[in-house]
Amino acid sequence: MNRRVYLDHNASTPVHPEVVAEMLPYFSDVYGNPSSVHGFGRDARAAVDAARDRVAAFLRVRPEELVFTSGGTESDNFGVKGLALARGSGHVITSRVEHHAVLRSAQALEAQGFTVTYLPVDQYGMVDPDDVRRALRPDTIAISIMHANSEVGTIQPVRAIGALARDAGVPFHVDAVQTFGKVEVDVHAMNIDALSFSSHKIYGPKGIAGLYIRRGTKMVSIQHGGEHERRRRAGTENVPGIVGLGKAVEIRARDMKAEAERVSALRDRMWEGIRARVPDVRLNGHPTERLPGTANVCYRNVESESIVLGLDLKGIAVSAGSACTAGSVEPSHVLVAMGVPLDWAMGAVRSSLGRSTTTEDVDFVVASVTEVVSRIRQAMPVGAA
Ligand SMILES: Cc1ncc(COP(=O)(O)O)c(C=O)c1O
Repeated sequence: MNRRVYLDHNASTPVHPEVVAEMLPYFSDVYGNPSSVHGFGRDARAAVDAARDRVAAFLRVRPEELVFTSGGTESDNFGVKGLALARGSGHVITSRVEHHAVLRSAQALEAQGFTVTYLPVDQYGMVDPDDVRRALRPDTIAISIMHANSEVGTIQPVRAIGALARDAGVPFHVDAVQTFGKVEVDVHAMNIDALSFSSHKIYGPKGIAGLYIRRGTKMVSIQHGGEHERRRRAGTENVPGIVGLGKAVEIRARDMKAEAERVSALRDRMWEGIRARVPDVRLNGHPTERLPGTANVCYRNVESESIVLGLDLKGIAVSAGSACTAGSVEPSHVLVAMGVPLDWAMGAVRSSLGRSTTTEDVDFVVASVTEVVSRIRQAMPVGAA
């Protein structure tokens, strides 16, 4: 069989075999509705409670401060709109490099009369806490800044921003979909009032995620119906998903630190290899404050889609920009916000490494990238991209 290398872990990850094993009985044996009073229901409820306890212990929060949702997108919608709508009107601060789940929630609020400041970032994709301070107004009612950027991996100074938010008495939402279970997230030290996290980025199943809501935080629901999740998010709980998320978190608690070190070293080996062999390349994102497994590289005057397809033919999976906008011919909004010139930004390719990535994989990718980029450049006059 031909070699296949998956370097798109920021888009999604394979479900860990231990997670699959833990979930299986909840499809066929323990299938009751957790809201039902009979034994089948009580068994399902016990599983949901146990998983909630696991996630709460990992985040060092109270179980009742967690609400399970259907995905990172729903958590972000809930976090941003829930905080704003609970306050009725006012001003929201976010950044230009957020995931579209936050950006478009903010735009939806604008359409309802809220005002929004989209903060700029520096060349590394980082928000300056002083810009947050300057943007604060008497009517500011929420701040939403992501923990790590999914495209370039830059980790934002959320601790400093959280301190500003606390001093100003403004609730702080953080999209931690790319950091939860990968790097340390401390909602207390970071003064976070609402935190989006997800399962399928950390070897758990798709269709399940969550929002931490600090006790006492005013937040309205965005999904209405029954009394589920303490009346904060209606809908029958995704019991197998919640069980899977609980197990995935338990595994991350065990493996996270060692894996971050291993994957960082592989990422650096890959970038060093590419830099040594391929001319006209640059690494995007912050040099030190970054996710362990993410390397976003621009190849000047080459279209990223061509590289992605060329590598796909060799069995290598990477992404052009972020997975959520793949297929779009627009340069990534993140790279544009970072001021990356168009002739570089159009050639951005993100590799995101994970627990199965090996040294051999990385060396194969370096050799393949070298060949593919050189072939594309030979076929195309410089500057024609
Ligand atoms: C930072 C960030 N936020 C939110 C999301 C949305 O998650 P999902 O597409 O799983 O709903 C993603 C997904 O890539 C992400 O990377």
